[in-house]
Amino acid sequence: MKGDKSDFDPRPIGIFDSGVGGLTVLGALARQLPGESFIYLGDTARVPYGSKSPRTVERYTLQVADFLLSQNVKALVVACNTASALGLAALRTHCDVPIQGVIQPGCRAALSASKSRHIGVIGTRTTMASGAYPHTLYLLNPKVQVSSLACPLFVPLVEENWLTHPATHLIVEESLKPFIHKKLDTLILGCTHYPPLKPVIKEVLGSEVRLVDSAQAVAEEMELRLRDLIKPTRPGTPQLLNYLVTDVAERFIEVAPRFLDGLPVKNVEMVDL
Ligand code: DGL
Repeated sequence: MKGDKSDFDPRPIGIFDSGVGGLTVLGALARQLPGESFIYLGDTARVPYGSKSPRTVERYTLQVADFLLSQNVKALVVACNTASALGLAALRTHCDVPIQGVIQPGCRAALSASKSRHIGVIGTRTTMASGAYPHTLYLLNPKVQVSSLACPLFVPLVEENWLTHPATHLIVEESLKPFIHKKLDTLILGCTHYPPLKPVIKEVLGSEVRLVDSAQAVAEEMELRLRDLIKPTRPGTPQLLNYLVTDVAERFIEVAPRFLDGLPVKNVEMVDL
């Protein structure tokens, strides 16, 4: 069933991440677009993407997108920062549905939050090595000063739910040391997993540094794009949330609520890409 010729399109929106982290984006989208249904795919068999080579991340991204397109989605949201950094260009030539990544909305949100125009970005090694964030920030505002830093230890801390552990404070402090005297006024959390570490990051960098996580920015941008590029569902359509994972579902079901702000996780199915 393709979208019909009416003003409405009942098909779901596909959203994907390397694992659970993108659920922060799903949560924001589901709240912002209560009439839309979503299929979330977490590539849990191959997470993390953030330590893999650009070629591998691009290949995984195209495979996941193909799977979601085979589920007849009307748009694709790439919630994973690493996949957005490395796979978006290939996806845009590969797919014929609107595609939304997380990097542009995050950069726009940071530029509107920043007064000094000195913005820091943290993310996985692969995202940081791609230069996607500085590149996008300079395109949006050539006067911006950008400092980037890979924080590879943050993802496992959040996966293990070590949010208040003393070791976490130490690791965050040590990882962010290069930023402590940089006088940043805004920091982009350029990774799906970092939002739960906001309190520790604030302790380390000081509460005057504004933290931007792209989940809300993507949701707001998507709402605008939906009006322009995608037809909405008929008014009154109930929202359905379906979850697909590429490895066994148990661990996903256990960890998912930490990223979803209370949204229940039901309908989890394991798929082979
Ligand atoms: N989803 C990834 C990101 O936002 C973090 C986890 C991973 O390395 O796969 O970059």
